[in-house]
Amino acid sequence: MALTRTSVGLSVGLVVLVAVALTRGSHDSTFAPMVGRGHAVLVHLPIGALLASAVFDWFVAPERTARAADASRLSAAGVLRLLGAWSAIAAAIAGVLLADWGSYAPETLRWHRWLGVLTAVAAVAWFVVRDGLQRPLSHSIVTVRSGAAALSGMLVLSGHLGGTLVRGDDYLTRYMPQSLRDVARLPDAERLTHRRVVNAAETPVFDSIVQPLLTQRCASCHNAERKLGGLDLTSADGMFDGGREGKVVVPGRSDESELILRLELPPGHLDAMPPDRAIPASEIALLRWWIDQGASATVSLADIARPSSVRRTLAAYGLEDVPSGVYALTLPEPDTAAMSAASRAGFMVQRVAGRSALLRVDASNAPASWSAGSLALLRPLAQHIIDLSLARTSSDDASLAVLAEMPNLTHVQLAHTGVSDAGLAHLRELRQVEVINLVGTAVSDAGLRVLETMPRLRAVYLWETEATADGVARLRRAHPRARVVRETATLVTP
Ligand code: HEC
Repeated sequence: MALTRTSVGLSVGLVVLVAVALTRGSHDSTFAPMVGRGHAVLVHLPIGALLASAVFDWFVAPERTARAADASRLSAAGVLRLLGAWSAIAAAIAGVLLADWGSYAPETLRWHRWLGVLTAVAAVAWFVVRDGLQRPLSHSIVTVRSGAAALSGMLVLSGHLGGTLVRGDDYLTRYMPQSLRDVARLPDAERLTHRRVVNAAETPVFDSIVQPLLTQRCASCHNAERKLGGLDLTSADGMFDGGREGKVVVPGRSDESELILRLELPPGHLDAMPPDRAIPASEIALLRWWIDQGASATVSLADIARPSSVRRTLAAYGLEDVPSGVYALTLPEPDTAAMSAASRAGFMVQRVAGRSALLRVDASNAPASWSAGSLALLRPLAQHIIDLSLARTSSDDASLAVLAEMPNLTHVQLAHTGVSDAGLAHLRELRQVEVINLVGTAVSDAGLRVLETMPRLRAVYLWETEATADGVARLRRAHPRARVVRETATLVTP
């Protein structure tokens, strides 16, 4: 009799559950999240109790099913089934409330919600059939075992879906070693993969640094589909839209940005992000840096100060010594036959570094047989030469014509050559020149006009030339930050 009443009680519980589940979408009081959070704690009870009862059913009970149980008393397994049924109802009610309040991946949530409710119904039905009827049915071993197995399957599946909702798909496998991942045919472990950077000016800080970091650390919970806290961190727009409590980024003010404040809460704090594991301080520093520099979605690495707080991390990402200017060029390999020909003619031809395609060419120690006509041999290498020294050679104005074909020249050494204003005119179109040495040439103020429009010029050496103080002053005005040297201050005259 008592057991019948228990069954009735359970059925009432079920009705409440189904009612709550059917009025979905209307549970948005502050009460709901409180009950909702109870779900995370409660679910473990039916899982434990029902799995334990299933083990009983599988190994112990079948032998006894033949002997009719005492109808008025619960067996040990029956107690577990009762506990499981009640706690399943409670967990399912809390879960349904939580589902309405939180924002989870809708597809997974739908399955989890209904499988959870169904599991509670099944748990009640199983109790009623096994323990709650006035005249207990006699079950065959097969019936008992298949019932226990089906119930366990439902528990495991809905538990797994729930775990996926809260912790992301990769919760179980995230820290799996690569060898095991290979066996399980899982994709390679996530790594911070930054786009290979070749040019600071073309490296957007947000796309190359900030977004990959957020994607790796936050996107499992904050994406367009599953916006926990109302926040999508998979795009700049989503980030700037903010979350349920408003903006999360205040440009220029990392100390006031919710995004940063949450990351710096002590682990275990209710609001700490990410909830389950802290992210490294170096990554927080990067996010801070980006926000303090104005939180622009488009700024490039070249246009943003790089304080020491981020240098190391950037270096670890391979972003510190970001090449710019000619070093950022991707050129084909220089023609080795042309390099050999130039070497034979007396030029020293070197790569500027390692396997760089950029070349340094020096004729200043060329043998007497070297003639200005040999400059024509550099023509096939014209794109690759960034540093050319013709100091003390017989180079003259006409032979400098080949320099007009070397758009990437950054260093030009023409000291003590026969070059004059006419020769410098060949350099008119060069845009990369940074340093030019004209010491001991016939260059005059007129020739210097050519240098005025070179955007990257930072040093010009002019002593023993025809340049006047006026001409130099003019050049200095055009390049206020360049070093324009006309006097040899270091020369000591005895
Ligand atoms: C495991 C899931 C999970 C991960 C990973 C996660 N969050 Fe959250 N986040 C949540 C949940 C749930 C909330 C809503 C509850 C709350 O406010 O605490 C939230 C809320 C927030 C909010 C507040 C939004 C608002 O306006 O209420 C911010 C900001 C935030 N998260 C930032 C981050 C950042 C940054 C990361 C990555 C470094 C991150 N989160 C990773 C689950 C996660």
